[in-house]
Amino acid sequence: GVDKFMNVSHEELAKHASPNDVWVALRGNIYNVTHYMDFHPGGCEELMRGAGKDCTDLFDEVHRWVNYESMLKKCIVGKLKPSVDN
Ligand code: HEM
Repeated sequence: GVDKFMNVSHEELAKHASPNDVWVALRGNIYNVTHYMDFHPGGCEELMRGAGKDCTDLFDEVHRWVNYESMLKKCIVGKLKPSVDN
């Protein structure tokens, strides 16, 4: 539920970048896509290119039109904490 949402730093996000633990940031939201991996039409390897980081640009380059918000509704972890130095 909403009460479990957290603010995730870039540093924390980067820790989730192995195939059995994958988080991505997409337009300011953090998603745990670990269980989506096997269902990604573009494959596991492609999705791993965005693992542990803000994958918004990669995502938009390939399929800007994909409705990830409804697809990943259950996978939301929280919000990406804006970093102080960028
Ligand atoms: C294909 C979802 C992230 C690369 C697809 C498709 C969907 C999808 C639904 C099929 C699109 C279609 O057939 O029209 C998602 C979701 C993502 C995600 C929900 C959320 C994290 C990424 C990332 C990459 C990527 C980070 C890295 C580059 C691709 C590629 C294809 C694909 C290469 C195949 C495109 C094609 O064959 O035309 N994805 N994707 N995706 N995705 Fe993703």
